[in-house]
Amino acid sequence: MNLRRFSFRFQRVKGFLPQLGPSAPARLRPWSQPIFRLRQINFPNSRLREAASVNKIFFSNLFLAGLAAALAGCNPAPRDDAAKGRQAGQDHAAIRPAALQSKITFSEFPAGPKPDVTPELLARGKELYVQNCAACHGAKGDAKSDAAAFLLPKPRNFQTANFRLRSTPTSNLPTDLDLFRAISLGMPGTPMPPWHYLVGEADRWALVEFIKTFSPRFADANEDRRTVVSLGNPPPRNEKSLAEGKALYTKLSCNACHGEEGRVDGPNVAQLVDDSGTHINPRDFSKPSAFKSGYATKEIARTILTGFNGTPMVGFYGTIPPEDAWKVAYYVETFAKASPTVLARSSQNFLEREELGAPDVKIQLRERAWQYDPSVIHVRKGQVVEITFEPTDNGLGVGHGFSISSYDEAVFLNGAMVGAPKTVKFRADRAGKFTYYCATQCSTDKLHPLMNGTLYVDEVDAPKTASLNR
Ligand code: HEC
Ligand code: HEC
Repeated sequence: MNLRRFSFRFQRVKGFLPQLGPSAPARLRPWSQPIFRLRQINFPNSRLREAASVNKIFFSNLFLAGLAAALAGCNPAPRDDAAKGRQAGQDHAAIRPAALQSKITFSEFPAGPKPDVTPELLARGKELYVQNCAACHGAKGDAKSDAAAFLLPKPRNFQTANFRLRSTPTSNLPTDLDLFRAISLGMPGTPMPPWHYLVGEADRWALVEFIKTFSPRFADANEDRRTVVSLGNPPPRNEKSLAEGKALYTKLSCNACHGEEGRVDGPNVAQLVDDSGTHINPRDFSKPSAFKSGYATKEIARTILTGFNGTPMVGFYGTIPPEDAWKVAYYVETFAKASPTVLARSSQNFLEREELGAPDVKIQLRERAWQYDPSVIHVRKGQVVEITFEPTDNGLGVGHGFSISSYDEAVFLNGAMVGAPKTVKFRADRAGKFTYYCATQCSTDKLHPLMNGTLYVDEVDAPKTASLNR
């Protein structure tokens, strides 16, 4: 329902957008329609507010920590596929800081051929979905889950099938490969985890096929599932193309939402909502880490052409030539604040992860009466820690989870059930005091207020040999 209203509006509005601005007739401005109203979310107490901000903390910590680690030079040599991905974007990346280029983004994520769709594959998809996804996306794929109340942005509703990360025109369904990539890489800056660390390739295809069963649109022969947006040939990046990109930024009304300086201070920002009825902020172009399909010129150009279905971010495919999308993308990139450092090797945007080998510490963690046991864990900085988690109740029928704020990108367990423990291994490379919590978002006053614990990563004493040399 919502989906149709949205698609329709976008279709209708698409052709007009170049003239759109705050002064355009209300009829033509999607954000002035009642559907784009701002919804106030009131959290009853501070604990719940904390739960809601977990995700924000998650990502800001993730990026900060990552930045530090990578600057420190402890990044392992990139794997071949990562290197290939970089090569593809090299020509157009000349004036971007090197730190922003070293990652695999949505369109470059490698995928082998899709397995045949068999009843077994679908059954496997369902099994994985119930265990890993239903807690957020809902048993029926309608985003009505217990966790949804605590998540921002809201999980995708697979019944309405408005997907954001696509290679297809605005309001079209994504390709199977698009879904595979979105599931594999997750969505940076949101609670949607990158599953390629946790679920094998064949299983991720099974998930793609299973989530398609939630919407009749995927089986509808009238749906165009073939057209893929052509990105054309990237024009040269020089002063002329940047100036043209700048002019297009205003002409296409990007500034109305994203702001003149790309800092989300456009006049329409307060009114924007997405198809879940939740307020949505446009992307802040000064923060490369928050781009949902990864930060790369190609992804920005693709987003400009495809749009994000179910959000006020319209697509310009068919309205502007692809070359123009690249020029605007070049201009968008001028807003990026060059971070002094880059993301952690283990963080969302990286394919390469350290091979950890045998653990230095093994910890058995349980949930008893909705508390973690033990609720305090001490390890030393640099240790490889293996935690095996088994609950004593099957929390909400989907199992309990385990995450450590600030280590969320490396530690994420979901759907651990009685008799089916799950294990996670990570290097405790940041010293400090960290909170662990249920990754299925049940560590709240409303559900399980005691379901929190503390991990201490202690600094190892500095070597005392230095003074002997004096
Ligand atoms: C912790 C909660 C959580 C879990 C667990 C989770 N998701 Fe998500 N997922 C989200 C949220 C939130 C979004 C929406 C992000 C946004 O709108 O930017 C999302 C978005 C998506 C999308 C949409 C991508 C697009 O292009 O719009 C897909 C597909 C998806 N999830 C699949 C899965 C699958 C498959 C699983 C299980 C293997 C899973 N998710 C588990 C929270 C979760
Ligand atoms: C009606 C308001 C609106 C207009 C006009 C608009 N955007 Fe957006 N844009 C958004 C919103 C809202 C989002 C965030 C969507 C999300 O987070 O899921 C967004 C997201 C984006 C992203 C983020 C992609 C990613 O991977 O996260 C890019 C890039 C972008 N817009 C570029 C542009 C450009 C360039 C223009 C002009 C050609 C433009 N937008 C016009 C509202 C708008």
